[in-house]
Amino acid sequence: MPLVTSKELMQNAERGGYAVGAFNAINMETAQAIIGAAEDEKSPLIMQITQTTMNYTEPEELVALVFALVEKSKVPIAVHLDHGRSFEICMRFLRFGFTSVMIDGSLHEDGKTPRSYEENIEITKKVVDAAHALGVSVEAELGRLGQIGAEIETGDPGKALTDPEQAKEFVDITGVDLLAVAIGTTHGLYRGTPTIVHDRLEAINKTVDVPLVMHGGTGVPDDAVVKAVQLGIRKINIDTQMRVAWYDATRKVIEETEKEFASLDELGQVRKYDIRKLLAPARQAVRDTVRERIRVFGSSGKA
Ligand code: 13P
Repeated sequence: MPLVTSKELMQNAERGGYAVGAFNAINMETAQAIIGAAEDEKSPLIMQITQTTMNYTEPEELVALVFALVEKSKVPIAVHLDHGRSFEICMRFLRFGFTSVMIDGSLHEDGKTPRSYEENIEITKKVVDAAHALGVSVEAELGRLGQIGAEIETGDPGKALTDPEQAKEFVDITGVDLLAVAIGTTHGLYRGTPTIVHDRLEAINKTVDVPLVMHGGTGVPDDAVVKAVQLGIRKINIDTQMRVAWYDATRKVIEETEKEFASLDELGQVRKYDIRKLLAPARQAVRDTVRERIRVFGSSGKA
């Protein structure tokens, strides 16, 4: 299957009234699990690498691996940079051959300090001009999503939400292809059940003419997800849920293995150090998680 741009996937999703899942890969096993799940579900896919993963591994290595897997996949896949925080990072991923990049102009490069609306427009437009020259789609963000580890008010996320009129102006000026909106979601885990502000989403969808993106998809109840898709969400980002699945599966195997080998002496225990026995169940758990999300997003059978 060819690599596709996220814009192409979004056009099909718009026609079909579903959302495409965008899942973060950090190593071979997560990339295999994500593609495997999309193939199981015959679903289009957005495979993401987030900028912070570059602190963990050289991007060239992970990118080469991802492309090798994508090339032999049976479903259409857009390869996307998640939360690029600078023009330079976006250019680097364009050079890698990514078919989609996100410039997150809502925050400065430290990932903490907010950029002003004008600064967000400036950097987003710069990335759009460069990416479009290469036929690559661009996602931008407007409003303020919650950050990992920070509590979000589950009742009234208030003024951090994306403003519909400002969103229209932002899209018109910058020419972005996808817009990530703040509608009550946050990255990471929620304390309690999040309140997704569907009225705000509906208002944004009425004024803005590009597909909308939900970040912080982990922990959003299924009915709230389905309603959001009906109201114009076409891309949904999932990361934490896969990490939790990985962690839980690994812990379970370690606990079971420790019990199994407890009666053996040190030499007898040598077989327990076969870490493939940890990686395979973790990979399967991620694959199951991704499959389950894809079904909720409505993209099964749409490849
Ligand atoms: P979660 O980690 O909350 O699933 O969010 C993922 C995300 O939005 C990546 O950009």
